[in-house]
Amino acid sequence: MRLTGKVALITGGARGIGKEGALLFAKEGAKVVIGDFDKACGEETIGLITQQGGDGIFVHVDVSDSESVRKMTETALTRYGKIDILVNNAGITRDGLLTKLSEEEWNQVIQVNLSGVFFSTQAVVPHMIEQGSGKIINTSSISGIYGNVGQTNYAAAKAAVVGMTKTWAKELGRKGICVNAVVPGFIETDMVAKVPNKVIQKMIERIPLQRLGRPSDIAKAYLFLASDESDYINGSILHVDGGITL
Ligand code: CAA
Ligand code: NAI
Repeated sequence: MRLTGKVALITGGARGIGKEGALLFAKEGAKVVIGDFDKACGEETIGLITQQGGDGIFVHVDVSDSESVRKMTETALTRYGKIDILVNNAGITRDGLLTKLSEEEWNQVIQVNLSGVFFSTQAVVPHMIEQGSGKIINTSSISGIYGNVGQTNYAAAKAAVVGMTKTWAKELGRKGICVNAVVPGFIETDMVAKVPNKVIQKMIERIPLQRLGRPSDIAKAYLFLASDESDYINGSILHVDGGITL
């Protein structure tokens, strides 16, 4: 029980990687707030948490809307009185080659994957500063570090997440807050299910571990960075990608 007494806010916790993180955090004793756009899946995930004896609530949020994020944070604080852990996990793709990418696709991805991380962190951090502690985990991507064909918007946002992580690690370390990022490779979720099969097969050939990642592979990295075990880790960028980038 590595998170007993902790309150964790996980954006995008209704499905995929975030869901796996929410279930694992609850198993480890955390009270979990799932902030997500998808009400049906979010409530289903909370149902699973309750079934396994955990405690959690679903809050409807659009992370690209600062007012919606402010309300999510208030709801979490009203219910549980504090937020110890923030996982900025919500994200979307709108893939397209540079020559075909529309302004709308550019804006959507920047607004959710970049501004969403900024809004959520800015809303939660004052409370963490007040309590003198906190763990913030941002979700980047190998696309943000190495680039990926068809992902101009996504790679830009995910690279920016790395820059923000290091900046916040410097700004907030003195306040007792650790900020780190996880860089997943290709993980089996709805997001990857949209990728053409031939692209996936090529990716798997490049992975020394010869398989896609599972949501639980990333959830375990979230747990490590959320727990006391990582108390002296700040500003780190943790790759969880099966070695695809070697
Ligand atoms: N590497 C090199 N070249 C590629 C390529 C790749 N991975 N993918 C496409 N191309 C090339 C094609 O060979 C083709 O070349 P020619 O014009 O010379 O024939 C050209 O790009 C156009 O390809 P398409 O006909 O497929 O063009 P499209 O406009 O229909 O689609 C695409 C382009 C949107 C990039 C599509 O190929 C695609 O969706 N690719 C997958 C993108 C991807 O990997 N997304 C990751 C999503 S999961 C995620 O984001 C999680 C994470 O963090 C990693
Ligand atoms: P997913 O599509 O399965 O789940 C994303 C979740 O975010 C969904 O529950 C969705 O409703 C929520 N969401 C989307 N837009 C939102 C918004 N505006 N406000 C609130 N919630 C919103 O995706 P997956 O794969 O679980 O991705 C989770 C994170 O991991 C994302 O940030 C993604 O970019 C990142 N990632 C995923 C990889 C993969 O291969 N699946 C690889 C690298 C990074």
